[in-house]
Amino acid sequence: MKNLKKQVGIEAAKYVKDGMILGLGTGSTASFFVEEVARRVREEKLSLTAVTTSSVTQAQAESLGITISSLDSIDFIDLTVDGVDEFDPDLAGIKGGGGALLMEKIVANISKDYIWIADESKQVDQLGHFPLPVEVVQFGAELLFKKFKQKGYQPSWRLNFEEEKFITDQKHFIIDLHLGKIDNAQRLAFELDQTIGVVEHGLFINMAKHVIISGENGIKVFEK
Ligand code: A5P
Repeated sequence: MKNLKKQVGIEAAKYVKDGMILGLGTGSTASFFVEEVARRVREEKLSLTAVTTSSVTQAQAESLGITISSLDSIDFIDLTVDGVDEFDPDLAGIKGGGGALLMEKIVANISKDYIWIADESKQVDQLGHFPLPVEVVQFGAELLFKKFKQKGYQPSWRLNFEEEKFITDQKHFIIDLHLGKIDNAQRLAFELDQTIGVVEHGLFINMAKHVIISGENGIKVFEK
């Protein structure tokens, strides 16, 4: 599995061109991409402006010699490469398994090209088996949790290693919805967008332009 993630991370780094403004995703697959980009910067002397999707990726990138710019200093991103937890045949996906969904969606939203990278296990016919992360403000979060429970969404709190509520980079909580399957992702996304107290959710619809996966039979690219 680790090898598959590495393979696809290296493959995606081929899309990076000198002079680009680049968005760096979060997670175990994206970290291989960051590693390979850093190698190219070092060896090919690529000049990039990089922005990050989490504090974890920022720390990794900086430790490898990639300077991170503020999102507020740029107007758009040429290319962002990120991981994904599940994606369907329409290239709609669930993200946020690593808790970075809010920053990931903000970065994705201003990216001209947006690529997901994954091992083949992330490809599904229907979304929902992976719990859907919902980032919520801390104030009134218990009320939202109850509301989701009443709706039958089977919520659980995202916890950290100390079994306390996980706090995101932007200081919110995450409630994971165990839905089993999502029949209408657009409708659910709309409902969550309208829910007061919800900052963002992990449904990424009509955002990814390409998905690159690696599997036993090599690399495969899906295009929208
Ligand atoms: C981070 O919040 C996520 O959106 C990740 O990109 C996603 O969970 C995929 O992570 P892995 O590459 O570690 O599976």
